[in-house]
Amino acid sequence: MKSFFITTAIDYTNAPPHIGHAYEKILADVLARYQRLRGRNVFFLTGVDQHGQKVQQSAEREGIAPQEFADRVSGKFLSLWKELGISYDAWAATTAPLHKKVVQQILTDLKERDWLYKATYSGHYSVRQEQFLTDKERGPDGEFGPEWGEVVLLDEENWYFRLSKCSEWLARFLETRKDFVTPTFRQNELKNAAAKITGDLCISRPKSRLEWGIEIPFDPGFVTYVWFDALINYISFAGYGDDVSPGFETRWPCDHHVIGKDILIPAHGVYWPCMLHAMGFPDDRMPHLLVHGFWSLGGEKVSKSTGNVVDPSGLATTYGATALRYYLMRDAVMGQDADFSEERLLLRHNTELGNGLGNLVNRTLSMTRRYRDGSPGHVELPADLASHRASDAESMASYLKLMDDSQIHAGIETMVELVNRANALVDSAAPWKLAKDPEQSERLDAVLSTLILSARSAATMLLPVAPDAAHEILRQLALEALSLNTPNAPDQLPAGYRCGEPKPVFPRLELPGEEATGNRA
Ligand code: MSP
Repeated sequence: MKSFFITTAIDYTNAPPHIGHAYEKILADVLARYQRLRGRNVFFLTGVDQHGQKVQQSAEREGIAPQEFADRVSGKFLSLWKELGISYDAWAATTAPLHKKVVQQILTDLKERDWLYKATYSGHYSVRQEQFLTDKERGPDGEFGPEWGEVVLLDEENWYFRLSKCSEWLARFLETRKDFVTPTFRQNELKNAAAKITGDLCISRPKSRLEWGIEIPFDPGFVTYVWFDALINYISFAGYGDDVSPGFETRWPCDHHVIGKDILIPAHGVYWPCMLHAMGFPDDRMPHLLVHGFWSLGGEKVSKSTGNVVDPSGLATTYGATALRYYLMRDAVMGQDADFSEERLLLRHNTELGNGLGNLVNRTLSMTRRYRDGSPGHVELPADLASHRASDAESMASYLKLMDDSQIHAGIETMVELVNRANALVDSAAPWKLAKDPEQSERLDAVLSTLILSARSAATMLLPVAPDAAHEILRQLALEALSLNTPNAPDQLPAGYRCGEPKPVFPRLELPGEEATGNRA
């Protein structure tokens, strides 16, 4: 059976992780966990993009080797993913020998089949920024501004990939594979942009300018330049190579390349399918791209240069991974931008999790223990409670549909609705009144059983988003999660059921003093 294959973008290792990186990895993790609950065999790949000029320069500034610098920053990503419970199956670090071997094999093969050629490019070059400039970099006066420092005319030889040879194929492909990109409006953007892209893609840098990269195997004076190295991680770490592993055949094509909107055009939307096409992948073995929006802070771009950085590790330490994961998944509408706010993080946690689900579990278990010593008697549900459970089943059906569609924020919303309905049932059925009336004994059993079953449905729905908290609730309920894969057994408590002891799962969070959170670096 084909695995469900999910990847994330691999993060640059020139700076520590910020909230955008954390969001993307949590998003992919929620989808991976959800698919596992659906019974799929998931292969979840994430990692780090360790080569490139910025790493080389940062390492030089610190007087250490680039590998050491890249490893140090990679370590920060690794420990954050552990803290946030990112359940990846494989780690793609692009300095790994296996990856290098695959990149070099692909380059050799493409050259042999005339997809690569060497040519001289003449242009304006900024000595300070170490890059060629195009007309886009000219100011309104037509000159290159002072930020570029000394600008010289330079001739440089490089290797090029025949991207232009793919333009007709790509246009046709985007026309026929309407679901290549989700959300759909991004595919339309891509179609328009792809039509305007002309020329070939420069895929090398002379070592005199950049040493920190994978050497071009047939021309040792050059290294591969960023995207040709980075994009290949999606196949090299999945088992592709000279002798393609059986593992690769069951994984590829990728079900979701989870990426941010900034790297859709041209990298993932144009270069990547064209590279795969040139390597010989047929159209029906092209991957799918799931494009998310950007997090901002106070309406401004999260960026190291403006100091506008939210440190996810600080937030996880202060508020816990559950609150952070829940907030990021709940507040960002899939595909849209979102603005980060610590107040909203607390609000979502305290209202929906604490006052909502936590309160439901706590009240239900306390009353079940108090009135029934933990074991409600087995009774047929009366019509109103049977209809309450039918509504829960409808919420679960919507949840599955939304989560299958990667609409995580809306999937969570169905859980919130289910919890609100159950809390309203506590208030209207008033078990504390029923407990005082021996004639209402059966009704009390039925109400308590219904509430326990609703709490189990909610905890099951929470599992992919906040696994630790959901498991803890199921432990207190003394029930297994519902299956999201096979039809479930009759909707009642198992024979001999006794619930556990309630303990607060979502302790109320408060805003600490600004300096104590450490979340604005
Ligand atoms: N190394 C490349 C990706 C190569 S993938 C073959 C890269 N790295 S990155 O570190 O700059 O970005 C990694 C991911 O984080 C990208 O998907 C990017 O869109 C995402 N984000 C970076 N800033 C973000 C926000 N402010 N909000 C949400 N996601 C953001 O690009």
